Amino acid sequence: MRRPFICGNWKMNKDRESALSLVRGILLGITPELGERVDIGVAPPFVYLPIVSAVIEGTPVKLSAQDVFWEKEGAFTGEVSPYMLKDLGCTYCIVGHSERRIYFGETDEHVNKKVKALLEACITPIVCVGEKLEEREEGRVFEVVSQQVKGALNSVEISSGEELVIAYEPVWAIGTGKVATPEIAQEVHSYIRSLLKETIGDVAEKVRILYGGSVKPDNIAGLIEQPDIDGALVGGASLKAESFCEIIKVAGGM
Ligand code: 13P
Repeated sequence: MRRPFICGNWKMNKDRESALSLVRGILLGITPELGERVDIGVAPPFVYLPIVSAVIEGTPVKLSAQDVFWEKEGAFTGEVSPYMLKDLGCTYCIVGHSERRIYFGETDEHVNKKVKALLEACITPIVCVGEKLEEREEGRVFEVVSQQVKGALNSVEISSGEELVIAYEPVWAIGTGKVATPEIAQEVHSYIRSLLKETIGDVAEKVRILYGGSVKPDNIAGLIEQPDIDGALVGGASLKAESFCEIIKVAGGM
């Protein structure tokens, strides 16, 4: 019912040449049939959005940014607006990634403003939520995730549900090689779905909830078969065309 979505978050990696060769490699690894079965996104650093955008134009691979500022324009040195992202062909934009929350002080209030600004510009936000290790050990997973989801969606109008993506990324699983088991991830995904039902109603069934944190070709199968895991936000394994395409193939059942 929900089409799987696999998005590669390149974070602060690559240079001009390697960004181009990665995206060209991904296009070579994707058949039209696979493009029909799976929504595919890549999120390069801001500065490489234009060159990647030019290469993927007219292909099944869609462009995502890794962050955005919520104002339309003005004296905000160093920031990028939703309209600038739209102008470059972005379909998606990641917001509230734990690295932004931890290193750059991003709060649920900031995430909420970004979500609203993106929806207004017709860009699909990929809202990242997830607990830290100590929060899991203290038994506070649902409390933390609930605060992040409700904070991000505070007075946000969602019409079809397809214009919103949530990514559950437990902080302890990011870049550590420690993937959440499919059962642990499904438990939180199903909880997020129930939270979405409370906040936005029945269209919650249309919202894709991605898992993120050490996703690799050899662990995606168990994750994607869970009823509330609709895809993955992939970090390290998205930096090589071969592993990224393999993840997409498994998600597409091929
Ligand atoms: P890794 O896949 O490298 O663990 O990163 C996950 C992530 O943070 C994606 O946004």
